[in-house]
Amino acid sequence: MSAIMSRRSVAIPVPLSASPYSGIALRLYDAFVLNFTSPFAWGCRKKTISELYRQRVSVRHAEVGVGSGYFLKRLPRKQWESLALIDPNRSALSFVKRRLPATLSVEYNADILRCETLPSVRFQSVAANYVLHCLPGPMAEKDIAIENLASLLVDDGTLFGATVLGASEKHNALGRIVMGVCNRTGAFGNVDDTEEGLRRLLSQHFMTVDIRREGTVAIFVASQPRRSMRSLVDTRDAQ
Ligand SMILES: C[S@@+](CC[C@H](N)C(=O)[O-])C[C@H]1O[C@@H](n2cnc3c(N)ncnc32)[C@H](O)[C@@H]1O
Repeated sequence: MSAIMSRRSVAIPVPLSASPYSGIALRLYDAFVLNFTSPFAWGCRKKTISELYRQRVSVRHAEVGVGSGYFLKRLPRKQWESLALIDPNRSALSFVKRRLPATLSVEYNADILRCETLPSVRFQSVAANYVLHCLPGPMAEKDIAIENLASLLVDDGTLFGATVLGASEKHNALGRIVMGVCNRTGAFGNVDDTEEGLRRLLSQHFMTVDIRREGTVAIFVASQPRRSMRSLVDTRDAQ
């Protein structure tokens, strides 16, 4: 019997942004994306992101867009009170569950663009690392994802992560090739993404927003979610 939770009785459809993350692609993810594309196409070292996780992960954490689970796996041993793994792709959820064998996690088959699929519990920290650039653009369309991420947090909670910015950046040749291929296949939707656009979206849903840059990647930390009417309904703190 599957231990993957869902607010629906059937698996949710896997969006194009999540479809690459299964089988061999998932097994090669760390080598190809984190050791190669991230430093050489985007100019962002995985050491920087590991450090962000070390500083920001809390003991009541939700990981949105789990991928291979590399950054969770690299954390110093944590006494989790709750750890939620959230992804529309069940292969990724199962892969990360196996990679964190001693960790009591709860997996949610859910899509950050669809609030009705998300858990109705709140967390102290939420990571969405290398997820926003995967979501379909233009950037304004990602507002719903930021609102949904905010709704997963307690009042003094923190969202953090990194995202690859779009075509207005000075991408190198490798970056332009990867951007082109990924945007054509629907694995990315970031052509239009800018640092200012990201700041605007985050500021609409959080009181405190910090964005810094490494290469063409924006590294963000946003705290104290502003409450929309919707997020006040049907949520409780993670136990
Ligand atoms: C590039 S990987 C990032 C993996 C990991 N967070 C990391 O930093 O290496 C993108 C992840 O986001 C997930 N994803 C894509 N679209 C999503 C959506 N609409 N809602 C939630 N997760 C999504 C994918 O399935 C995949 O696990």
